[in-house]
Amino acid sequence: MESTLSIIKPDAVAKNVIGKIVDRFESNGLRIAAMKKVQLSQADAEAFYAVHASRPFFGDLVKFMISGPVVVMVLEGENAVLKNRDLMGATNPREAAKGTIRADFADSIDANAVHGSDSLENAKIEIDFFFARREIN
Ligand code: TYD
Repeated sequence: MESTLSIIKPDAVAKNVIGKIVDRFESNGLRIAAMKKVQLSQADAEAFYAVHASRPFFGDLVKFMISGPVVVMVLEGENAVLKNRDLMGATNPREAAKGTIRADFADSIDANAVHGSDSLENAKIEIDFFFARREIN
């Protein structure tokens, strides 16, 4: 059993499709082990995306991630990290496979509906960033 971190980003929350996205996870063998709606501060977003700090899109990424509330989840299941990445689709929704979350709900490479941990190691770090032990059940 693996756990991974998922974020429904501000664009998808504003579109009122939280339930539709959660359904993709639950319908594909992932369980919601933790979930909360959060308004990130600038410091939160900068810390969470620290690995991208030197990238040209970092400023816009942080601005976008604090533009409205997000829904943060721990997804649990077999191969949860890869399974979530498959369900999300490619970073750029124009390149995302048909039927993926980004193909169906994302507008652009920056407003791309969801985040998902890209490795088991990062999943642990990202889950710890957002959740206390008692919030994961
Ligand atoms: P990345 O980790 O490469 O993608 P993913 O979210 O699929 O793991 O990038 C993190 C986020 O940074 C991405 O979801 C959206 C934003 N981003 C841009 O705004 N422009 C870009 O050119 C890239 C590569 C990412």
